Amino acid sequence: MTARIIDGKSVARKLRGEYQGRVRRLVASHGLQPGLAVILVGSNPASRLYVSNKVRACEEVGIRSERIELPGDVAESTLLAEIDRLNADPTVHGVLVQLPLPPHIAMPRVLERISADKDVDGFHLYNVGGLLTGSTVFPPCTPYGVQKLLEHERVEIAGRNVVVVGASNIVGKPTAMMLMQKDATVCICHKLTRDLAIFTLLADILVVAAGVPNLIVPQMVKTGAVVIDVGINRLPDGRIVGDVDFEGVKEKASLISPVPGGVGPMTVTMLLYNTLRSAERSVGVHHGDDAALDGA
Ligand code: GUN
Repeated sequence: MTARIIDGKSVARKLRGEYQGRVRRLVASHGLQPGLAVILVGSNPASRLYVSNKVRACEEVGIRSERIELPGDVAESTLLAEIDRLNADPTVHGVLVQLPLPPHIAMPRVLERISADKDVDGFHLYNVGGLLTGSTVFPPCTPYGVQKLLEHERVEIAGRNVVVVGASNIVGKPTAMMLMQKDATVCICHKLTRDLAIFTLLADILVVAAGVPNLIVPQMVKTGAVVIDVGINRLPDGRIVGDVDFEGVKEKASLISPVPGGVGPMTVTMLLYNTLRSAERSVGVHHGDDAALDGA
């Protein structure tokens, strides 16, 4: 069997087109332009690149963006005061602090300071708690992107075995919660899981977010499985690869996401969507595909 390859770029492009239309309608009907504030602390080159991508994507769909750069040795109180200012600003609908933060800053205090109503990353405990009950307002962007890709490819989730490899707060755990909410039977594996293959072989849908190149080889995949690779690893030769042996596994799976060009383009797309929805919520506009309604 040779898998169909998911074109994340094309799905992201299509969704961004839809969101652009919704932004225009919001401006026309309510005179409201969605706004996203992104705070970058320090000069981590990867974080800098991610922030630039987010700002550029906002421009593409008509979301106003504000980039706030603070020095790596900034006092935590200064960062918290900046968040307070953005929480109070009615032109800002999403507030995002790029992670990781320098070690002298307590990440939980920072994430809890962002208003739950502007928490477009979905990292505030209120929204994390909502993942457990299917009522979160802002699903975290990467898991939300995985869910949207599966929906777009019309992958049935209810009753299927989902195995998530990786138990991070940003990807593994929320992905598991969101797919459980869609009535999958979910198993989470992580770096101390023994006999990983025993679990992965059970997966109808295998989501891999472990940060280990070539972790998943064909012998670990059930014939016909759907394989979603969330890994982004830079090899010593500069190539970017996921966590899945793509060339091998694509001969066994029925559907597979590549790296790059799979989940990656969806993450920023869902950030745009959360920001758009936050702006719409602020004026009481609701759509049938809002996160809490579609059971994310
Ligand atoms: N660092 C790595 N991924 C993310 C993300 O999704 N959001 C934020 N704020 N920081 C990150």
